[in-house]
Amino acid sequence: MARRYAKSPVANPDAYQVKLDKTAEYLRPTDRVLEFGCGTGTTALIHAPRVAQIEGIDFSKEMIAIAREKLWDNNAPNASFEVARFEDWPVPVAGQGYDAILGMSILHLVEDAEFVLEKARRSLKPGGLLITSTVCLGDRLGLERLFVPPLSAIGILPKLRWFKSAELLTLMQTHGFEIEHKWVPDGTPTLFAIARRVD
Ligand SMILES: C[S@@+](CC[C@H](N)C(=O)[O-])C[C@H]1O[C@@H](n2cnc3c(N)ncnc32)[C@H](O)[C@@H]1O
Repeated sequence: MARRYAKSPVANPDAYQVKLDKTAEYLRPTDRVLEFGCGTGTTALIHAPRVAQIEGIDFSKEMIAIAREKLWDNNAPNASFEVARFEDWPVPVAGQGYDAILGMSILHLVEDAEFVLEKARRSLKPGGLLITSTVCLGDRLGLERLFVPPLSAIGILPKLRWFKSAELLTLMQTHGFEIEHKWVPDGTPTLFAIARRVD
């Protein structure tokens, strides 16, 4: 599945590019960055040249194997990939938190998004950035409500949380983040958000 995923084209390349560009505006050459649920590492490797260090983690061994293969084709000595659940990844000691954490297409998939948001906050430096893109099917009233739950039940689609974008933004705020930028690409149920840790 991971190999098939790696070969499949990006679903909405224009929106993907806008998110990359907006993320790049916020990253600095001295930044230490974590991407959780990094998949095959494409996004991390694109951002690698603009930061000091980027670590990608994913709980799928196959995804990380592909990400590591891509390291051979990309000159990115500051990038690394590890098999890990974000929930189990060590929180940096005080003073060594990440400058930015990316979570692209993942918050709707984790078992406990509240835990993940709290962990992201603790793993960031004060003022650090949480940059996410999240499918918010709760904003949709259409066909998804009919076909997604049965497909999830039989394992064709992953189990996912039906976030409403407003609810997710509020959740981020209650977990200690201030929303600096938000965008829902036209015709998609996807919330792209850049949130800053506030103490
Ligand atoms: C929909 S894919 C998105 C991959 C990539 N971020 C992208 O935008 O193409 C979600 C990825 O998150 C990984 N994943 C899901 N839950 C995770 C968790 N709790 N910790 C680490 N990885 C996780 C999956 O293995 C999968 O590769």
